[in-house]
Amino acid sequence: MKLFGRNKNKALDPRKIPMHIAIVMDGNGRWAAKRGLPRVAGHRAGLDSARAIMEESVRLGVKYLTLYTFSTENWKRPQEEVDFIMSLPEEFWTRDRSSIDEMDIRLNILGDLDGLSESTRRVSLEAMGATHKRKGLTVNLALNYGGRAEIIRAANAFAKAYPTGEGSEQDFAKFLYTSDMPDPDLLIRPGAEKRISNFLLWQLAYTEMVFTDCLWPDFNVKQFQDAILEYQTRDRRRGGLKV
Ligand code: IPE
Ligand code: IPE
Ligand code: MG
Repeated sequence: MKLFGRNKNKALDPRKIPMHIAIVMDGNGRWAAKRGLPRVAGHRAGLDSARAIMEESVRLGVKYLTLYTFSTENWKRPQEEVDFIMSLPEEFWTRDRSSIDEMDIRLNILGDLDGLSESTRRVSLEAMGATHKRKGLTVNLALNYGGRAEIIRAANAFAKAYPTGEGSEQDFAKFLYTSDMPDPDLLIRPGAEKRISNFLLWQLAYTEMVFTDCLWPDFNVKQFQDAILEYQTRDRRRGGLKV
């Protein structure tokens, strides 16, 4: 099978497709402001990008796609914007149900469900329950997610499970939201910022990172393939030597 990047016309190496890709979906507000639109219009357009990237992930055989949807710090935003972002998982689950089913997508929420509104929590639990046996692409929506909050939560459970302190890194990782999946191979951050913003602090230890100025609503299949092409040029030494 030959997979062509649409831009550079260079073939993606099908043996080096990242198993797990994480994305900080940033730049929605600036995209809207550039067009004289309210910020929420950027979030709506951002959902379209997410749909396209999920589809392409299925096509390429990516197994896990983790999308940063709402951070524990995003509560600082105006109520109207928060409410709008929080309504998007429900919109996605109800409107896109048939394509979610066709693509055999498992939906998973990473984050503190207790901090969500009743309706967002209900939809999250319903979507996870209905798809948890699926074997296709796992889409993790990081919602009310903070990397430090996740580590503290895990640390509390770890301390109870290993009161004498003999647990290993692997034992600790069992208490993270990502306990049943590998760490991300590739992190993509569109939106021009070069920072992690409290995303997957534990899991990104040896993840390759690609930053792009493209704003998330403009991020399409071409940009996605280019990020994977860039990933495929990297030499992942993980502290060892080049083989
Ligand atoms: C990312 O876009 C979406 C969320 C953080 C929820 P932003 O809303 O942060 O967009 P900018 O960074 O203001 O352009
Ligand atoms: C990170 O984007 C969070 C999400 C994309 C959900 P932010 O816009 O909140 O990050 P900062 O404020 O630029 O660090
Ligand atoms: Mg932002």
